Amino acid sequence: MKFKTATLSIILVILMVLGTACGGGGNAPQPTNNNNQASNNQPSGKATVIKLAHMSPELPDDAYHMFALRYKEAIESKTNGRFEVELYPAGVLGKDRELAEGLQYGTVDLAVITSSPMGNFVPAFQTLDLPFLFDNWEHVYRFLESDAAEELYKETESAGIITFGLIARGPRSVTNSGKAIESVEGLKGMKIRVIESSIFVDTFTALGAAPQAMSWGEVFTALQQGTIDGHENSIATINNERVYEVQDNVSLTEHIFAFTTAHASKMFWDTLSAEDQKLFKETAKEITIQISKEQEKAEEDFLGRLKAAGMNIYEIDRAPMREMVNSVYEKFAKSNTDKYFKAIEELK
Ligand code: MLT
Repeated sequence: MKFKTATLSIILVILMVLGTACGGGGNAPQPTNNNNQASNNQPSGKATVIKLAHMSPELPDDAYHMFALRYKEAIESKTNGRFEVELYPAGVLGKDRELAEGLQYGTVDLAVITSSPMGNFVPAFQTLDLPFLFDNWEHVYRFLESDAAEELYKETESAGIITFGLIARGPRSVTNSGKAIESVEGLKGMKIRVIESSIFVDTFTALGAAPQAMSWGEVFTALQQGTIDGHENSIATINNERVYEVQDNVSLTEHIFAFTTAHASKMFWDTLSAEDQKLFKETAKEITIQISKEQEKAEEDFLGRLKAAGMNIYEIDRAPMREMVNSVYEKFAKSNTDKYFKAIEELK
């Protein structure tokens, strides 16, 4: 009798265990990641993991990283976790050019990159590199909100890249060490690193310098070792990339406006539903405009930080510089469509 009771108990326990295990499948209710958020957007399974990369430091006030953080948060919450955005900052997946190529090959789903290298993939983008193109931030905002900007973004599709929007980062200026550049004459013969863009090279040649086009990844060492005399960048980048550790002076040449672009790989884009494409695009556009306005406000603060770090800041008379770059416009007009240039001029 004792034996029978023990056997029955064992059988009962086995049945209960099996019952519980079976209850986990089939029609039984499933636990969800977002407990009380029943909605049509409820994830049906695992989240789709997407990679968002950029080359800038992971700083809370760096435009590239600000976009990455805000976009991740917005996309994950607006899709109720159907997408998980993994961040790859600080160039771990490459600098601008490699990231643009990654977008083309689909090895990167989303990327925030400097707009100028895009001109090597899509010539229309070179327009944004033209010297003294924008009068001020207001002029830039009018362009960002214009149909012309949307048309320009569409141009990158033929290169396998979707463009969501531009982040305005402010005008670029020149840094050097030793004798400061206090007028355009001071640029004469100076080896200044510029972006790998023909318009940057033409601009600095027209200004009398000896431009050296190189990838951002090589710049800090080149400045440190003195193989170049100086470089040019936005005030935000000069601060965030700690250029003050290897350069003494900033001369406010404000020659070209700096933009960063937010992109998706067309290979990734084509996997999205029309509804998701709209959400990805509109969310990005909203964030790019928001960050542009914050960058404008932060400019004085970045300049103050450079002074505090020991850099000397020099005002420059830009009027002669504007005259000197006329040849850049003449050359551009011969090799590029002036469609976007005209549109930007009309917004003055
Ligand atoms: C560059 O000079 O390559 C870029 O402006 C770097 C940056 O924007 O951080």
